[in-house]
Amino acid sequence: MALKVVILAAGKGTRMRSKLPKVLQPLADKALLQHVIDTAQQLHCDEIITVIGHGAESVQSSVSGNNLVFAMQEQQLGTGHAVVMADEFYNADDTVLILYGDVPLTTESTLTDLLSLVDDTNPLALLTITLEESTGYGRIVRDQHSSVQAIVEQKDANPEQLAIKEVNTGIMAVKGAQLKKWLSSLDNSNAQGEYYLTDIIAMAVNDGFKVQTTQPANELEVLGVNDKRQLQGLERAYQRLLADELMVKGVTLIDANRIDIRGTVETAKDVQIDANVILAGLVRLGENVEIGANCILKNVTIADNTVIHPFSHLEDCIVGEDCIIGPYARLRPGTELANNAKIGNFVETKKAKIGEGSKINHLSYVGDTDMGQEVNIGAGTITCNYDGVNKHKTIIGDRVFVGSDTQLVAPVQIGDDATIGAGSTITKDAPQAQLTLSRSKQLTIVSWQKPTKK
Ligand code: UD1
Ligand code: CA
Repeated sequence: MALKVVILAAGKGTRMRSKLPKVLQPLADKALLQHVIDTAQQLHCDEIITVIGHGAESVQSSVSGNNLVFAMQEQQLGTGHAVVMADEFYNADDTVLILYGDVPLTTESTLTDLLSLVDDTNPLALLTITLEESTGYGRIVRDQHSSVQAIVEQKDANPEQLAIKEVNTGIMAVKGAQLKKWLSSLDNSNAQGEYYLTDIIAMAVNDGFKVQTTQPANELEVLGVNDKRQLQGLERAYQRLLADELMVKGVTLIDANRIDIRGTVETAKDVQIDANVILAGLVRLGENVEIGANCILKNVTIADNTVIHPFSHLEDCIVGEDCIIGPYARLRPGTELANNAKIGNFVETKKAKIGEGSKINHLSYVGDTDMGQEVNIGAGTITCNYDGVNKHKTIIGDRVFVGSDTQLVAPVQIGDDATIGAGSTITKDAPQAQLTLSRSKQLTIVSWQKPTKK
């Protein structure tokens, strides 16, 4: 006996009006289908069978997971037909959980509840939900003992059935033996001429089984996406959920409706995040870290007590304790700041190791650089790391002072305790503990006259 998850993802998603298949549209920067696969993975299932059709190649190459296989549905003849395409991947004694590639936010706990209702005497369990506005959904028809009798699709329903508020989410768990049997007797004699998966409910009742049902904790878990408005609606609702999770962990958010999380955020105590911050990839924030308004952080680790001032952009970098960054700083991939480092406004760094207590306070570019401790880089300093073909390295020792408006033409090395005079273009190594400068002599033209207007 094994648990097999079948994800229906063959539909076109015409209403998205996009070249990207619907199930690859991003929610929090992750494909809708990938959300579903990740949740299935949490159930420790034995195999995930994704039924693909429209955009099959790109869908298949854009998602990943363990034990992931694909079944092709060339023509979309209905949800029942789609599940038939997965037939060879499950056995009679397996339990089959059916999910949807465009319903991304179902939780592991809801699905575990659903699965707990299925066994040999109860081979079918449905996830239903009660909605004030049930238009478009299949209605759950129950008898006077409130046992489920059937699901009737909107287009096939009579007025009495249309008034039913309990609807089919589409998600169900079925024993393999019965699923195979019922699917083999589906037909398409209905309003849409489709093979409805939902017709198996009446078959189960007919075979004398009591159909089990459960409901999700939150409506969000069963919302599907058909157009960009729904996608945006779900994005906002999901972001609010993620913001709530952060606050539950003790993070202070200045505005929970103005933060976007597109990945995983790990936080220690007393983190504070101001408005309009975007956190992407894996972001780790130490104790007392403060992130100012309008910052973007992607794949960064920031140690305790560091403050990032507004409008800073950090990607693929590691920041030590007690650092001060920004406002308007750009830390590009490969930047590593040791403790107490300071990166000020309009400073760009890339592949740069900045030693403990070193400062680059204003208007500089530092790339392909190893910098020691307690260095002070003056405003307007540029490491000229690129000769048009290759990148070269700049090595700066401890306690170096670089005067403003200096170009360090790499490859070049500045010794410990060296001072570089302002305005220098340094093309050769500068020795330690000396003043090095390159500067044309200042002169004053004594007889010079201001031009006069003609
Ligand atoms: C389906 C259910 C309905 C339920 C609703 C919940 C059926 C017959 N109806 O209706 O009871 O209330 O979902 O949202 O099952 N798909 C395929 N191949 C196909 C057809 C569909 O992969 O041949 C996929 C679609 O891409 C989509 C999902 O299955 O992701 C649902 O199909 P859709 O046609 O949208 O079903 P609904 O009419 O919404
Ligand atoms: Ca649908």
